[in-house]
Amino acid sequence: MKALSEAAVRQYDTAGYLAPVPALTTAEAAVLRNKLERFEADAGVLAGKLRHKSHLLFTWLDELIRHPRILDAVEDVIGPDILCWGSSFFIKEKRNPSFVSWHQDSTYWGLDPADVVTAWVALSDSTPENGAMRVIPGSHKLDQVPHRDTFRPENLLSRGQEVMVEVDESQAQMLALKAGEMSLHHVRLIHGSDPNPSDTRRIGFAIRYIPTYVRQAAGSDDSATLVRGVDLFHHFETEQRPDADMSEAAQAYHASVTDAHAQILMRDTGRAMRA
Ligand code: NI
Repeated sequence: MKALSEAAVRQYDTAGYLAPVPALTTAEAAVLRNKLERFEADAGVLAGKLRHKSHLLFTWLDELIRHPRILDAVEDVIGPDILCWGSSFFIKEKRNPSFVSWHQDSTYWGLDPADVVTAWVALSDSTPENGAMRVIPGSHKLDQVPHRDTFRPENLLSRGQEVMVEVDESQAQMLALKAGEMSLHHVRLIHGSDPNPSDTRRIGFAIRYIPTYVRQAAGSDDSATLVRGVDLFHHFETEQRPDADMSEAAQAYHASVTDAHAQILMRDTGRAMRA
């Protein structure tokens, strides 16, 4: 074991999540938040495709997905050969209606088998007041549950998808995190979050990790970044690291990769990824 206790890994297996898990120091989280907000001050809030796979655009996020304290915990859950398949910012501005409906991440990702763990890294405090993530413990033991697409504009998910089964909200657990902490959750865990009526901005960066044996079953054109160990399977094209923040090369490469990703995520909808 590199970072987690055996009891913690058992808890992940039983409940489908673990939180809070120490990841960054408060100072490290503040540095990253500052880099994000300095960029936003010049270029506007990260939106549309820039929210996704942002580690291909910014060197400081390329470093974050390789952070040893994050990877040590992830390794304890999925083993030593680790690809980063995706990443997404989940930012809730203060006094904002954005929310995340109850869903399983596995619904449209096409990854097989469902050995996928998300490290949701808090770059601000994430609290009951500002829309922290809620989960249904043990729901990852369900198979894939049917979802319906709503495309509601305030929904932060690509299709506004929501589970079509009754969710017993009395069972829900709130994953409050301090800036620098993370939660880990399984790709089949039912989770969601409410809007942020508070006066504080809520910033999370969700990093999706898979063991190298996982494959993309919904399309041939997919890519990932090897962040630890060796990849003997080559199921994913190797991604290009950003040479500098938002360099022309990084932006061009990111655009091609997120286009391919959008085709997988939005398949059969006739829609493009939202801007
Ligand atoms: Ni999710």
